[in-house]
Amino acid sequence: MDVRFSSRASTQTLFAQVYEYIWTRIQRGEWKEHEKLPSVRLLAAELNVHRLTVFKAYQLLKEEKKVYVKDKSGYYVHPGGAMPLDNLDSPIVSSYVQKSHLSEIHKVPVTYQFSYALIDPNLLPNRFFSEYVKEIFDLYPKVLSSYSTVQGDEELREALCRYFMDMHRFHLSPEDIMITSGSQQALDLLARMLVQPRDAVLIERPTYSAAIDIFRQLGAQLIPVEIHPNGYDLDQVEAYMKRYKPRLFYLNPTYHNPTGYTVPAEQRKQLVELAERYRCFVIEDDPFRDMYFESEPPPPLFSYSVEGYVVYIRSFSKYVAPGLRIAAVCLHPSLVSHFFTVKSLADNGSPLLNQKIFLHYFSSSRMQQHIEKLRTALNVRKTIMEEELSATAWRWNSPAGGLNLWVKLPESLSMEALLAKSIEQSISFVPGSICDPLKETKSWLRLSYSYISEKQLREGTKLLISMASELAGTVE
Ligand SMILES: Cc1ncc(COP(=O)(O)O)c(C=O)c1O
Repeated sequence: MDVRFSSRASTQTLFAQVYEYIWTRIQRGEWKEHEKLPSVRLLAAELNVHRLTVFKAYQLLKEEKKVYVKDKSGYYVHPGGAMPLDNLDSPIVSSYVQKSHLSEIHKVPVTYQFSYALIDPNLLPNRFFSEYVKEIFDLYPKVLSSYSTVQGDEELREALCRYFMDMHRFHLSPEDIMITSGSQQALDLLARMLVQPRDAVLIERPTYSAAIDIFRQLGAQLIPVEIHPNGYDLDQVEAYMKRYKPRLFYLNPTYHNPTGYTVPAEQRKQLVELAERYRCFVIEDDPFRDMYFESEPPPPLFSYSVEGYVVYIRSFSKYVAPGLRIAAVCLHPSLVSHFFTVKSLADNGSPLLNQKIFLHYFSSSRMQQHIEKLRTALNVRKTIMEEELSATAWRWNSPAGGLNLWVKLPESLSMEALLAKSIEQSISFVPGSICDPLKETKSWLRLSYSYISEKQLREGTKLLISMASELAGTVE
């Protein structure tokens, strides 16, 4: 393969090409963890570029912890950057496909399911839906005979628009709302619309694991921003915006997945101001907003948006009907036609039947009653898990809403060993490392308390603790 780069390209483009060349080969596993990389001199000759260009590319990779240096010996591949070997079983395809880490965990059927950030199906309005479907066909006899519009059903967008204006004072018209098949699709489409290879993307650390996979798949350069119980270090966010000129900041500021943290109102306003100052899009992913235990969370960032840099994704998947795959995306009018294009290329519009079923539930008083009961049920489950965990020295911040506990275990405990042993005992959880863009958060795990029954929750938590203590010798 001739990989020599055109000498007519500008220095900046050459540098980006060399960087991309090295990083792609590492990611594909062609250069393996701890393997020595070609010397600057050799690679410069091979690619027909100046040595300084290769040196600069190596330096950036080093800064990003993708390679490391051994004194006088050269550059080596940093562990954790390459795709795992099991992804290379069909090299032609898998070299280009980013692994979906969360789906791999969910693939394993278990009894004590702590890895699903979903709600127990017994708590969802199944009966109501099954009775309703017939009525939907009576109301819209041709509902299956046509596509939905690409933007989504007009009646539904009007209802959502009224809701967002009343609840959050969004300045919006139904034309600024697009319906997608869940927030997962919204995120994937927004990423495709906004991000090109090598674009800098700010992402919370830790974050929703699938978001990392989506941005990696597109070749984005991920810049982690730590999220704390009280939000972010805004000086750091500003410094990153200045330095990396990111395309976007992906955030999940309300009952954040996986930590459960909520970004305070003052920070939300300041973040929007920063985004506008540095022309950085903000993707606000907000699937847990209604799942609060006592008081309502602060308003969405979108409600502070003036210049249109904030894109708001609101999924109703979690607490209404995950199977309907319904989410709404609110965008500035200047972005709507671009989103229309990516959505139409993906699927020509989400299923109309699902949208109509959702609309009628959403517009009924049943939905509010259901949500209120659900909040109590989730709070009870959270308390049960916390009661069981209080027998250990594990640490977590009790969340004010959402579906997960983000738990720190003793550092001496191997998370890989605990997960392997748990799966044997029919328990699953999300290891913290897959939620970390740097893959370093080794002693944390995410436990979802929302999916299994109260009885199973107690049994499963006890079992997990006893396995961890067996592994560690003792519960510290
Ligand atoms: C933060 C976050 N975003 C998006 C999703 C995907 O949700 P949906 O079912 O709407 O696709 C999830 C699911 O866990 C999530 O936690």
